[in-house]
Amino acid sequence: MKFFADTADVNDIRDLAEAGLLDGVTTNPSLIHKAGRDFIEVVTEICSIVEGPVSAEVVALDYAEMMREAEILRKIAGNVAVKVPLTIDGLKTCKALTDDGTMVNVTLCFSANQALLAAKAGATFISPFVGRHDDNGFDGMQLIGDIRLIYDNYAFDTEILVASVRHPIHVLESARIGADVMTAPPSVIRQLVKHPLTDKGIEGFLADWAKTGQKIG
Ligand code: E4P
Repeated sequence: MKFFADTADVNDIRDLAEAGLLDGVTTNPSLIHKAGRDFIEVVTEICSIVEGPVSAEVVALDYAEMMREAEILRKIAGNVAVKVPLTIDGLKTCKALTDDGTMVNVTLCFSANQALLAAKAGATFISPFVGRHDDNGFDGMQLIGDIRLIYDNYAFDTEILVASVRHPIHVLESARIGADVMTAPPSVIRQLVKHPLTDKGIEGFLADWAKTGQKIG
C-alpha cells in the first residue's frame, strides 16, 4: 500500500520523505489555508521534494472554470494530480484531463456508487473519506471494502486512495482490505511506528549496555 501525506507542511513532507515513508502528497484548500502559504508556490515546492503524485485541488464548480484552473495546476510539474470534487462537472473535468494524460484525484467520495462513476470517468485515484464517514454514523471501512469489491469485479484501474484517515486502525484496515493508497496527516503516519514494547525494549537494551561500560567506536 502506498503512503501519501495529507498536508501542505513542507517540513513534515521532507522529514517523512527522508525516512522513505512517502509515495505522494495530498493537499486541499483547508490544508493550504493551514499552511498559510501561496498555493502555487507551496505545491511547486512539494513537487520538488516528492517524486510521486501531489494532489492539488481546483476550487471552481463549473467545468470550464475547473479546466482553466486545472491547466494552471498541471503546468506546475509532471507529478501534479489535479483534484476535482465528485460532481458531474468534476467528472467531466476528470474525463477530459485523464484522456489528455493528466492524473486526476476525484475527492469527497462517500458512496460506492460515486466511486463507480469516478472509475467510469477514468479517475487515477478515488478518495473516499473514511473519517468523515465514521463521524456521520456510517462505516468508513465498509465503504472501502465495497469499492474494492466493485473495482475488482470490473478490473477498473482507478486506485483507491483512503482519505480522511484519523488513526492507525484506519491504516491497518485499509491494508487488510487491499486499498492501493492511504493518505494520512503526518502525526498519524508517525503514530504507526509507536509500540510500548519497542520503547521498553530500547530502554532495557540501553540499561544493560551502560553496565558493560563499552562504547562503539
Ligand atoms: C484527502 O485528500 C483530504 O485532503 C483529507 O484526507 C481530508 O481529511 P479530513 O477529513 O481530516 O479533513
